[in-house]
Amino acid sequence: MIADTDITPATARPTLVLGVTGCIAAYKACELVRSLVKQDVRIKVVMTQAATRFVGPVTFRTLSDEPVTTSLWDDPGSSAVHHVSLAEEADVMLIAPCTANVMAKLATGRADDILSATALATEATIIIAPAMNTHMWRHPATRANLETLRSRGVIVVEPELGELACGDIGEGRLASAERILEVTQAELGRSSDLVGLGVLVTAGPTFEPMDPVRFLGNRSTGKQGYAIAEEFGRRGANVVLVSGPTSLPDPFGVTTIRVNTALEMQAAAECVYDDVDVVVSVAAVADFRPEYVAGDKIKKEDAPDTLVLVRNPDILAGFGADKGDRFLIGFAAETVDVLKHARQKLVAKNLDLVVANDVSEPGAGFGHDTNRVVFVTREVDEHLSSMTKREVARRIADKISARVSKMP
Ligand code: PMT
Repeated sequence: MIADTDITPATARPTLVLGVTGCIAAYKACELVRSLVKQDVRIKVVMTQAATRFVGPVTFRTLSDEPVTTSLWDDPGSSAVHHVSLAEEADVMLIAPCTANVMAKLATGRADDILSATALATEATIIIAPAMNTHMWRHPATRANLETLRSRGVIVVEPELGELACGDIGEGRLASAERILEVTQAELGRSSDLVGLGVLVTAGPTFEPMDPVRFLGNRSTGKQGYAIAEEFGRRGANVVLVSGPTSLPDPFGVTTIRVNTALEMQAAAECVYDDVDVVVSVAAVADFRPEYVAGDKIKKEDAPDTLVLVRNPDILAGFGADKGDRFLIGFAAETVDVLKHARQKLVAKNLDLVVANDVSEPGAGFGHDTNRVVFVTREVDEHLSSMTKREVARRIADKISARVSKMP
């Protein structure tokens, strides 16, 4: 339980991998290194070849007091696969400045230099601070890459309006050092704030078979639940994800158990329940299943006139009845009287928090990369604006983090 869990305080010096790309603003990365070193952050700088045309690696080596890597073929003496060891060491990876070209590489998963290979190999949060000419920033290709990166959880410190190196005035100037530092420090703080916490997440739909071919299902894709599992895992929690059928890959750093039906989901979730401090029940569990499952495909001519359904167990309500010190979070997928139904679920299932989403709203609920939710507790309703499912995941993990940090 959270109260009894020995949460390891994040006292070790955090490691930031700083990627510097080829842009006139590369010199501003020196100021970032100076400030972060003063805050006892260990900085490993990786530079593209183009970046070395603007600032010499010696400058970063001197400021960070660490070796600087500029090529996939650099020999650091300790590891044959240097980009992988850098990727693993990173608590956070910051790319500042980040050119349009490097954004495109990140969006398409290219890994043909030390910076892009490290970014592809890391499980740490990636922050980018783009800097480029206004037309490049506004180009549809860059906008599409930006959306792709955001949907994958990359944090973007937006460029500012101002005078650019080319003499134009417009959007595209690297964000201020203060702003980049603020975002980076917040992410470094989040990089291990949930170490030692046991978390169970359920996600996706359940499929309730009628015969070997047909089933009753729903529209859940697992996106929201997987984002939550990944966020908790990234912040150091021991996460078990029990997932219904989805086309998503297993999230990084998370133990994933795949199931099909509500009964299978219940069995898998109950197996881990004793060992967790937090449950986040995002799955759209089918409330009913066909009473009779045919062993062979039902022929058209044999189809019954009615389908008899039986109730599935309510997995979360079962956990609520045996809550102990756990923190239980349910979701409520509603189309009318959203808050009223969410409050009823909060009480009926003995939950600490219900995340309510109106699934009839454009850009919210099933299948979208974004969601619009309300956090409903016994004390207060907190309305959040529309945001990516990653950001919703971050807000939920922040709530748990705030609670954990108050523990003696
Ligand atoms: O997967 P996505 O495409 O990203 O879509 C996300 C989502 C819309 C599925 C998600 O945001 C969401 O709302 N999930 C909850 C869906 C749901 O089944 O809500 P509900 O109001 O029917 O259930 C209330 C709570 O009880 C949920 O936490 C649910 O997981 C849980 N429950 C419900 C029924 C049941 N038999 N067992 C349960 O544990």
